[in-house]
Amino acid sequence: MPRGAVGEPEVNNIQSLLMRRNPGYALEQAFYSDPAVFQADLEVIHYQDWLFAIPACELVKSGDYVTYKVGAYRLIIVRGADNHIRAFHNTCRHRGSIICKAAKGNAPKLVCPYHQWTYELDGSLLWARDMGPDFDPKQHGLKAVHCRELAGLVYICLAHTAPDFDMFADIARPYLEPHDLGNAKVAFESTIIENGNWKLVWENNRECYHCAGNHPALCRTFPDDPAVTGIEDGRVPPHIQAHFDRCEGAGMPSQFYLHDGGQYRLARMPLKAAAESYTLDGKSAVRRRLGQLPFVDAGALLKFHYPTTWNHFLADHAVVFRVTPISATETEVTTKWLVHKDALEGVDYDLNRLTEVWMATNSEDRQVVEDNQQGIDSPAYAPGPYSPSQETGVLQFVEWYCNRLSARLPQNSVAAE
Ligand code: FES
Ligand SMILES: [Fe+2]
Repeated sequence: MPRGAVGEPEVNNIQSLLMRRNPGYALEQAFYSDPAVFQADLEVIHYQDWLFAIPACELVKSGDYVTYKVGAYRLIIVRGADNHIRAFHNTCRHRGSIICKAAKGNAPKLVCPYHQWTYELDGSLLWARDMGPDFDPKQHGLKAVHCRELAGLVYICLAHTAPDFDMFADIARPYLEPHDLGNAKVAFESTIIENGNWKLVWENNRECYHCAGNHPALCRTFPDDPAVTGIEDGRVPPHIQAHFDRCEGAGMPSQFYLHDGGQYRLARMPLKAAAESYTLDGKSAVRRRLGQLPFVDAGALLKFHYPTTWNHFLADHAVVFRVTPISATETEVTTKWLVHKDALEGVDYDLNRLTEVWMATNSEDRQVVEDNQQGIDSPAYAPGPYSPSQETGVLQFVEWYCNRLSARLPQNSVAAE
């Protein structure tokens, strides 16, 4: 763990919480509300792992940039003159001002607003006024952040030495390529703040036990079958295996794949009978389809990659979600609807029809996450048991999280004595 704000007493306390955890049960209150646990989450997970940042199609041309904040770090993600997407720390190498202030924009060069030091889009320092004869611009380029593009999705990593990305990329690429995200555009984006810990947002996402009671629009097309949302135990139900086989036979990788360490999962799951897309009537939302799927009832390629993204790739469009922790009890959830870049709003798709199901679903999920947080904040809260059939995905997420934390936190010096 990098040297940060989490001191030894706090680390010992978190290790003790992990050691007394009751497997199969929800986590204790501190995991969802204690600022020290939140800081540890940032330092051992969000500052160390690969994070989904944006779809690459958001940066169309040279100089297009977005800014993004992960914990204490401010970042710029920009498409260069050479068409490569790079990420940099948004802090000037002169006296540290932030450089890009807008959420997004286009700039031929990155110019610091304070004294106008000017950086190329590849981060090198191009111009700095009156810095004397001994000043070496080569020593003052922007600090780079690891950045990789995978089939139209941009991932970043803040770690000094990034963990391996290639294995994930090699496995995910064949699943993603039929969706042709390189030819997508963002039709709409929504950002909401949920007043709940980031892990509650994930736990809610990883089960559909709550769907029937909360998601009337989504449930028209998305099955609340735990075999779809959760983690298979080696027995794929015949109707899902038949869907995998049909899609694989048509050239689309579809089989359920879960990473050994549990960080990511891919599976092309069927929607409810005859449904094509996440619309109220189940028919496609976009006439000019994104990707080369050979049939419209291909279901949804469900992909998650902890700790920041889950996605649904359909035959006509795609929806990508990004989860960004803000504080122990606040989480930003950004949703982007991707359609073919040549699809015309009002002609090929109606924006309300495209977005209404997930806009409603996000709002409903925000409510249940906030209700969950408020109940957990009570001194009377006691962790209850997960359903062994309905909440396998939550169990899997919590195992991944606890393993990550205990492996990367320093050893518990109290317990070791
Ligand atoms: S702080 Fe950026 S130019 Fe001075
Ligand atoms: Fe939900």
